[in-house]
Amino acid sequence: MKSKFFGKDFINCNDWSKDELETALEVAFDLKKKFALNQQTPYLMHQTLFLLFFFSSTRTRTSFEAAMDHLGGNAHDLPSDKLQISHGDTAKEIGKILGSYGHGIAIRHCDWKEGNQYINEVAKHSSMPVFNMQCDIYHPFQAMADLMTIIEKKGKSLKGKKIVMSWAYAKSYTKPISVPQSFILLLSLFGADLVLAHPKEFELMPSIIKETKQNSKFYGGSFEITHNMEEAFKKADVVYPKSWGPLVFTEDLKRSQKIIGKYKNWICDQQKMNLTKKDAIYMHCLPADRGVEVADEVIDGPQSVVYDQAENRLHVQKAILALTMGGR
Ligand code: CP
Repeated sequence: MKSKFFGKDFINCNDWSKDELETALEVAFDLKKKFALNQQTPYLMHQTLFLLFFFSSTRTRTSFEAAMDHLGGNAHDLPSDKLQISHGDTAKEIGKILGSYGHGIAIRHCDWKEGNQYINEVAKHSSMPVFNMQCDIYHPFQAMADLMTIIEKKGKSLKGKKIVMSWAYAKSYTKPISVPQSFILLLSLFGADLVLAHPKEFELMPSIIKETKQNSKFYGGSFEITHNMEEAFKKADVVYPKSWGPLVFTEDLKRSQKIIGKYKNWICDQQKMNLTKKDAIYMHCLPADRGVEVADEVIDGPQSVVYDQAENRLHVQKAILALTMGGR
């Protein structure tokens, strides 16, 4: 008897039903408790997960490796430049071959207009489940860890909670739009009062905005877009200010950097945090550009939950791997 999760891909969390996502979260909470009690969770004994990275990672790489260790299996870290991809291995071949050697394939591929297509092409040809460790459109495991953290800090019912995803200035590199997109999409299923704040050139994909609006209406929440960071922060319960590139507006990198440079005042500092509710939480998926994207006193301060978010990556990933690769 296979569970309804067995063999399912996890590429966009909103491809799963709300019930399925809630079950995954329940399993994640259970696994977190068992980890704290040092209880064994050998749900994937001797199973193999391939981790294919086209882009650097700290949290995703290490938490997936740890997840497979804790579940009794193995994770194999495959940087894309160590494979024969540049010499001709296609997405179809990767799906067919890695799928025949192991029990799951996880991929990070963030290149704009390429990453999501690549992951879906691998999934189409893999007999084993495929997991999105971040692409150009979605970062589903991050969104699940973020939701788990919000539930821990604010309770299960998010009705009436003002939750703000805001753009913030950063200068390190043009960051993908996958974190804000997956975050608003997932949160829109849970009845929150969602606010998306960004300068006008940093809009997200129209299809994501449309789906977020529809979900918010259906699940009894609300969804607003503003171009004013301070306005967004007023009386917020949760703020998640992070940088992303103006990729929907322009694909020209030089132009992007010029546009980003216009908005240096979009930093999350204590002055802005003072606009939120006293018990508001500050979120960031990390890595953050300290001193420009967020002030040290905020990210290291009492309202910051960034380490909870990072830790919860481990628990949600273990839950989703156990459900989809476990087979019972
Ligand atoms: N938040 C996140 O995905 O971190 P890494 O890029 O380090 O994996």
